[in-house]
Amino acid sequence: MKWNFEEPVPREGTDCIKYDLRQETFGRADIIPMWVADMDFRTPSFITEKLRERVGHEIYGYSFRPEEYFSTMIRWLDTRHKWKVEKDWICFSPGIVPALNLSTLAFTRPGDTVIIQPPVYTPFFSAVESHGRNLLLNPLVEENGYWRMDLDSLKRSVTANTTMIILSNPHNPVGRAWSAGELN
Ligand SMILES: Cc1ncc(COP(=O)(O)O)c(C=O)c1O
Repeated sequence: MKWNFEEPVPREGTDCIKYDLRQETFGRADIIPMWVADMDFRTPSFITEKLRERVGHEIYGYSFRPEEYFSTMIRWLDTRHKWKVEKDWICFSPGIVPALNLSTLAFTRPGDTVIIQPPVYTPFFSAVESHGRNLLLNPLVEENGYWRMDLDSLKRSVTANTTMIILSNPHNPVGRAWSAGELN
């Protein structure tokens, strides 16, 4: 079987932030921790098999990113998202949170305004504020359990000083995948 979304995997006692730090994070342990997009389902076997194969080599020295790293990503983005990406546009980051911080440093200057749309994953706030940029909040709107962007207020918020907006897509925590219309 490639994946199994039926069987929960107990994670308590594995030093995982999501479950083992509930008391420290929320002051109580009897909650369902939905703040972090951390997978609860077992990793599919085609991934664990590749990892086992790599671990089995027993030498973990410096590696470079082979051609397949780029061609696989380019094919995936084209097939899944109809997005044609050139190899030299791709830049490695060890995670999305480091990439958010680096993007703020690369594409904005101190004193610029950056928009985020709360409620959103907490590191989106610090990726702006830690670098002396102004944070402008354009809150999402909830109607009968369905969340949308407030596009009118977003348009009004943008000034000459606004140099970046950070989108969460699919959005944590509201669970929306933004439509092509909304993104346009
Ligand atoms: C919206 C969002 N972005 C980024 C991350 C973390 O990404 P990474 O571990 O690649 O830095 C999370 C984790 O919960 C998230 O919810």
